Amino acid sequence: MKILFIASEVTPFSKTGGLGDVAGALPTALAGLGHDVKIVTPRYQDVRNAGQLSPTGQSLVLRFPFGETGGPILSARLSERLEVLFLENEAFYGGRKGFYGDVNGEFQDNPRRFAYLCVGALQAAQRLRFFPDIIHLHDWQTGLVPVALRRGFQGTPLAKAKCVFTIHNLAYQGHFPKRTMDDLGLPWDLFTPEGVEFYDQVNFLKAGLVYSEALTTVSPTYAREIQTAEQGYGLDGLLRRRSHALTGILNGIDAHEWNPQTDSFLPARYGPDDMTGKAVCKRALLERFGLPTEGNAPVFGIVSRLAWQKGVDLLLETLPAALQADLKFVAVGNGEPGLEDGLRALQARFPKQVGVRIGFDPELSHLVEAGADFFLMPSRYEPCGLNQMYSLRYGTVPIVRATGGLVDTVEGGLDGNGILFESFHRSALLAAIRRALSLYADPARLGDFQVRGMGKDFSWAASARKYEALFSSLVAE
Ligand code: ADP
Ligand code: GLC
Repeated sequence: MKILFIASEVTPFSKTGGLGDVAGALPTALAGLGHDVKIVTPRYQDVRNAGQLSPTGQSLVLRFPFGETGGPILSARLSERLEVLFLENEAFYGGRKGFYGDVNGEFQDNPRRFAYLCVGALQAAQRLRFFPDIIHLHDWQTGLVPVALRRGFQGTPLAKAKCVFTIHNLAYQGHFPKRTMDDLGLPWDLFTPEGVEFYDQVNFLKAGLVYSEALTTVSPTYAREIQTAEQGYGLDGLLRRRSHALTGILNGIDAHEWNPQTDSFLPARYGPDDMTGKAVCKRALLERFGLPTEGNAPVFGIVSRLAWQKGVDLLLETLPAALQADLKFVAVGNGEPGLEDGLRALQARFPKQVGVRIGFDPELSHLVEAGADFFLMPSRYEPCGLNQMYSLRYGTVPIVRATGGLVDTVEGGLDGNGILFESFHRSALLAAIRRALSLYADPARLGDFQVRGMGKDFSWAASARKYEALFSSLVAE
């Protein structure tokens, strides 16, 4: 099959969270199965590995009611069957830090920036004569693609493509004032509750959910949760109506990037048969955070976007009590200023036990996964979550709230590989941390947990097959 991916971030070029990881790794897995895959994504100013980009010789000029805008199409070929196309646009993606917003909040021109991605991706495919069977879309930034395809490309070879829309996070919907309809030239007959209208605003995510042929989300549990009023963010009714078209397919992980036996970011490598390297990593982690290395206290870690979703506020409430025990806590994260400040304040209060790095730091995130004994994810909700899978692979026992993909990946109980807690409450998290402390006090039992976790296969192979089966069924229709 020919598959066109459209995504607002793609590892190793751009990433703010798991979406970037998935949009990099799933196409790689599908190309490995023999499909022809192209990914279209913005060429942000801060794209990493920019040295790999080369011109295609093609460029776009798009006409919107707000004006004419365009730029060149660049390319990076990742393998014979996998090419990433970057849409350059000086006004929309150049000259600014951040992909979606900066210290002043979300960029005001996001509707235009991502409308450009949606229409531009289709135009780019047409220019390069790549006529996909499947267009695979990800989150609200790509929601206008099926609308553009139906309204702007009828009668062209692109029109045969089927759209599959993957929800990575239902809480981020991209709603904008209704004047956006005119600004972007969207037909007003779409502005109904059955279409893109949502409480008198335009909702990009809803456009994707209404007009795509198939919907997926990133874990089976989250697929059920988003059909409830509590977790549906106003779109649960629509999702229930479309439930026959919705499936939950668990994300995989990039098993090459996240492998403690080969990880080049680590000072020592290790595997289930010989864990001595993990102790070296733990020491290096403590040194890196300027924490004392003597003694044998367990280290708890987080690597996270600092957002409401992640329950970092609950962690900040709970840790002062937990830190009365002999344990250490290290955090790598960035995001909401209040949570960043909260972490800094915790470190100031417990300087010998707490290490904090505010920022986006992939190298350090590997060291935390390897060097910590426990990894904390007290999420309010979690569509899939990748870090708990990285943790299992690294023999770092995850402590997770029983929600979304965390339930589908971490096994609790005495013979499990991690620690789950139910209630989003300080006492429940504290009890989970205490369970971790007693596990740590019993090295043989801890070793069993680690080995069971490290033995799990979370590579993309199985999940990529599920996407492949879904795509084939749509093509056969
Ligand atoms: P989400 O996509 O909701 O942020 P996931 O668990 O799916 O959550 O994926 C998060 C990804 O982003 C992981 O690869 C994680 O290591 C990475 N990440 C998050 N914050 C940081 C950070 N501050 N520095 C480095 N990597 C980070
Ligand atoms: C989102 C979710 C996260 C998921 C990731 C990749 O950012 O918050 O749970 O793992 O997308 O699908």
